[in-house]
Amino acid sequence: MISVTCVAPVNIALIKYWGKRHEDLILPINDSISMTLSTDELCAKTTVTASETFEQNRMWLNGDEVPFEEGSRLTRCLKEVHRLALANGSQKVSPSWKIHIASVNNFPTAAGLASSAAGYACLVYSLARLYDIPLSEELTTVARQGSGSACRSLYGGFVQWHRGALDNGSDSVAKQIASSKHWPNMHVLILVVNDERKKTASTKGMQQAVKTSQLIRHRADKVVPERIAQLTDAIEKRDFQTFAEITMKDSNQFHAIALDTYPPCVYMNDVSHKIASFVHSYNEIMGSLHAAYTFDAGPNACLYVLEENVPELLDAVQKVFPSDSMDSGTYLRGLS
Ligand code: PMV
Repeated sequence: MISVTCVAPVNIALIKYWGKRHEDLILPINDSISMTLSTDELCAKTTVTASETFEQNRMWLNGDEVPFEEGSRLTRCLKEVHRLALANGSQKVSPSWKIHIASVNNFPTAAGLASSAAGYACLVYSLARLYDIPLSEELTTVARQGSGSACRSLYGGFVQWHRGALDNGSDSVAKQIASSKHWPNMHVLILVVNDERKKTASTKGMQQAVKTSQLIRHRADKVVPERIAQLTDAIEKRDFQTFAEITMKDSNQFHAIALDTYPPCVYMNDVSHKIASFVHSYNEIMGSLHAAYTFDAGPNACLYVLEENVPELLDAVQKVFPSDSMDSGTYLRGLS
């Protein structure tokens, strides 16, 4: 019997991935950029055990068993890891041994807090360790096939997922733009507005958006390429003003696409909108951009803020949004 345990943090997209050009391979219609949080914040922790005596592959998520179905994303990831193990000549564990996987998240699952990103990144990385496969761009293509955004959580710091051009997806990989040390005073404040599971899963939301939104092609073809170049430059220069503006605009555009979907996907709620307005008023009072919001496929807010401005922002947030105005009343803080 051989066992491996790994931890992977969530990543929060600054330029959002929304829409696939290939469902099974999970090939996106646009590039995306994210920041990975530190490993002591929002994380998935996974233990993978392989044994000659196990009779079948099994998996538990937060203590509940989940089916290990043929053709599922889980099985696909395992097959891909076996293929890489073979290609690498790895003999540490026989691919014929069955595995047991136990994964836990230290935050709400599927509440738009990138739980699948951390989960699949952790699963694929743990499997790679088990079979002695090094971390590589190719490994990011495996995590991508579990959950698209998971490919970005294999690296720390700022990460770009390249849409790629090939039909087989081999060039749809994640690459690090800058390590977490590059901008050490960048912090993330997460306001948990609601920790229930999201109403429309991202897979369905994306499918409907690609089918029905008239704005999504303009975003993918014209807006995102420009923003990727501008944001990469802002990250390189540690230019918070440009970083904040692009991040907020991209979050707004992603939710505009969700609303342009028919029937519409509504991920933000009244409190989310109040948080966005609060950030704009706060920045106006401060005289420049001191905070930036972004919302994924759920109502919870991620606020980017430089370390020196954290106490002031936190103070203002707590005054404007006393904890009983949020369902869970929790503030989580993630460091880059
Ligand atoms: O990887 P998925 O299927 O969970 O989709 C993630 C979609 C967003 O979180 C909204 C955007 C992103 O780039 O992470």
